[in-house]
Amino acid sequence: MKAVCWMGKEKMQVHDVPDPTILNPRDAIIKITTTCICGSDLHLYDGLVPTLEQGDILGHEFMGEVVEVGPGINKEKLKVGDRVVVPFTIACGNCFFCKDQLWSCCDNSNPNAWIAEKIMGYSPSGLFGYTHMLGGYSGGQAQYARVPFADVGPIKIPDGLPDEKVVFLSDIFPTGYMGAENCNIRPGDTVAVWGCGPVAQFAIRSCFMLGAGRVIAIDRIPERLQMAREAGADTLNFDETDIVDALHEMTGNQGPDSCMDVVGMEASGHGVMFAVDRAKQMARIQMDRPIVLRQAIMACKKGGTISVPGVYAGLIDKVPMGAFMNKALTMKTGQTHMMRYMEPLLERVQEGEIDPSFVISHKLPIDSAPEAYRMFRDKQDHCTKVVLNPWAEQMAA
Ligand SMILES: NC(=O)c1ccc[n+]([C@@H]2O[C@H](COP(=O)([O-])OP(=O)(O)OC[C@H]3O[C@@H](n4cnc5c(N)ncnc54)[C@H](O)[C@@H]3O)[C@@H](O)[C@H]2O)c1
Ligand SMILES: [Zn+2]
Ligand SMILES: [Zn+2]
Repeated sequence: MKAVCWMGKEKMQVHDVPDPTILNPRDAIIKITTTCICGSDLHLYDGLVPTLEQGDILGHEFMGEVVEVGPGINKEKLKVGDRVVVPFTIACGNCFFCKDQLWSCCDNSNPNAWIAEKIMGYSPSGLFGYTHMLGGYSGGQAQYARVPFADVGPIKIPDGLPDEKVVFLSDIFPTGYMGAENCNIRPGDTVAVWGCGPVAQFAIRSCFMLGAGRVIAIDRIPERLQMAREAGADTLNFDETDIVDALHEMTGNQGPDSCMDVVGMEASGHGVMFAVDRAKQMARIQMDRPIVLRQAIMACKKGGTISVPGVYAGLIDKVPMGAFMNKALTMKTGQTHMMRYMEPLLERVQEGEIDPSFVISHKLPIDSAPEAYRMFRDKQDHCTKVVLNPWAEQMAA
C-alpha cells in the first residue's frame, strides 16, 4: 500500500510498504478513504519530537471502511463494511483511566511506556503515527491502517454524511471543543485564543457554543484571522500589536476570563526572547518555545483559567510561575479525551449546527503529501487544512 513516511527532518516521502495485518484479537484493519495533515504532524516534520525513526508512517486523523476485524471484536460493536472515524488516541476501554473517561491517559495502549515514563513520569496513551515514545504505531496517512482496541475508539458514521463533514471528529473538532471546555466558560465570558489554525478555528466556535460572550483570536495569517472573524471573534495580529497590552485594553484592564494556547511548542514571536527560545530549541537545551504560554499567563484575569490544547513535548524556560501563582490561575490541558466528545459532536454535525468542512483549503492525492506538508507548515497558498485522498492518482490533483 501507499503510505506517507517520515524520512528525516522536513523529508516526507510516499512509499510502497506492506499492508497492515491483524496482530491482536481486538484489532481492525481500516481501508482509509480520507486522511489529514495536522499541526501536530508539523512538530514531527520539523524534527522536534524525539523517538521518531526513519520510515515511520505518520498521520492520526483518518476515517474509512472496516475491511477486517480480529476474533476479539464483538460484531455488534464493529463489523466488516462499517464506515468509521478513528480517534487519534488509542485506548483500551478497561483500565482505571479509561473507566474514568481520561481516555488519552490509557494505561494499556503504549507498549513503549518505559520511554515516556523517563520523560513524563508516567506514560499517556499510545497515539497513531506519533513517535515510538507514544507507541510506535503506524499512522493513517496511508491506504490502510491497523487500529488496536477497535471496539473502543472508532465511531460509526451514518450514510449520507460525506467524509469531509465528519473526518475532523478524529481530532481537531474534539480538540478545539475540549480546549474550550477546559476554559471553564461562564455565560458572557471573554476568552482569548492564541492561534487561528485549524484546531483554533474549532476552539473559537466551541467557545461560543459553550456560552462565551466574546472571543479574541490572535494570529498573523490574514486568511486565518478572517476565518476567526467569520465565527464572530474579534482579532489581533501579533505582528502588529503587543498582545498582552492589547488584551489589557480590550477588557477594561481586567484581562480575559480565560486564555487558550492553541499554538504550542512552535510559537512564533519577536525580539530577543524569541531568538533565545529558538536558539535553545535548535540546540535542544529546551524542547519547546513557550511564547504563547508566557503571554497567556501574563494576560489572564486574576482567578482565571489557562487552557492548553497546544502540544508541548518537554522542558521549557522562563515561564512566569510567580504570576501564575499569585494571580490564582488554573491550568487545564491534555491530549484530547476523544471518546468523550466524538458522539456528541457527531450529533451536532448531523443536526446541522456546524459543518466542519469550512476549514478545508486543499484536497489532494496522497502522492502530494511531501509538498502539502511544506505548504501547510509555511502557510503558503492560503493553506488552512489539507485532506488527502489515499486512492486518488496524482493526475487527479
Ligand atoms: N491537545 C491535543 O490533543 C491536540 C490535538 C491536535 C493538535 N494539537 C496542537 O494544537 C496546536 C495547533 O494545531 P493546528 O493544526 O491548528 O496548527 P497550525 O500550525 O496550523 O496553527 C498554529 C497557528 O498558530 C499561529 N501562531 C504562531 N505563533 C503564534 C503566536 N505567538 N501567537 C498567536 N498565534 C501564533 C500560527 O500562525 C498558526 O496559524 C498544535 O500545537 C498542535 O500540535 C493538540
Ligand atoms: Zn491532529
Ligand atoms: Zn485504558
